[in-house]
Amino acid sequence: MLSRIHHIGVVVRDLEQAYGFWRNTLGLPVHKVATVKDQDVRAALLTVGESEIELLQPLSDQSGIGKFLAKRGEGLHHLCFATDDVGAELEGARDKGTRLIDKQPRPGLAGMICFLHPASTRGVLVEYAEPYPPGHPGLPGEEPLP
Ligand code: CO
Repeated sequence: MLSRIHHIGVVVRDLEQAYGFWRNTLGLPVHKVATVKDQDVRAALLTVGESEIELLQPLSDQSGIGKFLAKRGEGLHHLCFATDDVGAELEGARDKGTRLIDKQPRPGLAGMICFLHPASTRGVLVEYAEPYPPGHPGLPGEEPLP
């Protein structure tokens, strides 16, 4: 079952510049920064109540996020729902005929994650995340907080 909005993904040109608005103006604390190698992005997670803002800075023009930035500029990228069983949620979407980007859940910054294809979601890139349990080391590539 989907329980809440886990985070909203926002593409930015440069994390440090983006902190000027998201952290300094809005006052949202950064609680994690990491390089996600297989996506070729640096990502920062900021806390807002029970949810998060995920800032995504591409590390190459060829990455998915790099292509998005070149084509559409900075801005809203995806919406992520929290679930306690990402595998079951993915199966459920598949059974209902939803096109998938990920055939299987994979480790991501927010937990075990998967993406649905925007062709099946009225144009919104949708992510599901099952947060890692407390004490889980998370992904490699974590940086000290700014
Ligand atoms: Co995300």
